[in-house]
Amino acid sequence: MTADDLKKLAAARALELVRPGMRLGLGTGSTAKHFVDLLGQRVAAGLDVICVATSEATQAQALALAIPMSTLDETPELDLTVDGADEIDSALRLIKGGGAAHLREKIVAAASARMIVIADDSKLVERLGRFPLPIEVVPFGLEATRRAVAAAIAGCGSAGELVLRKRPDGARLVTDNGNYILDAHLGAIAQPEALALALGQVPGVVEHGLFIGLASGAILAGADGLRLLGA
Ligand code: 5RP
Repeated sequence: MTADDLKKLAAARALELVRPGMRLGLGTGSTAKHFVDLLGQRVAAGLDVICVATSEATQAQALALAIPMSTLDETPELDLTVDGADEIDSALRLIKGGGAAHLREKIVAAASARMIVIADDSKLVERLGRFPLPIEVVPFGLEATRRAVAAAIAGCGSAGELVLRKRPDGARLVTDNGNYILDAHLGAIAQPEALALALGQVPGVVEHGLFIGLASGAILAGADGLRLLGA
């Protein structure tokens, strides 16, 4: 099985959690894309749900599949969000934002009674941080914010390069919210909770990709089958 087959397997298992009438948050990325595709098939067959997307890309995909879409303004409380992750540890702490969508992903997850992570099991790690931690920052004051972020990271016992994310054509990547992303190459995050709090206090940081206390469960697909964490 390829990694993509495993992602699809995890997405299919998550679909079993969906009940008629549910208000759903739809994640972003290649794994979440499988979930949205499968959900679209169920909607075409008559399933009644209302959904909120975590990115413009997911919104476009869902609309193309005729999935009924809403916003958090119209539907501020969701029953279930299904999303991917870049890293997951055994305490269901996550790194997200590889697709630059972690700001909306975190808002949607926080508005949901349950957030289920779907992934292939290569995303399960003993310690968070090998995947660069995405930090969304406003363009104004970028260099000052970068220095304050570096100081916050050092204060939490970690260190590493901060790299401004670029698009394939070399231009600065701009998020759906009009911001930039600094990717923090930390190798390992010594104190995830402390770092999450410290980054949240830096002026200019809009949101970081540490998701702590948000995921209620994870569905991980591997060569040996499905593994469920939590929920
Ligand atoms: C987007 C995300 C994605 O969920 C994360 O990057 C995982 O993506 P994929 O399913 O393609 O591996 O956080 O911001």
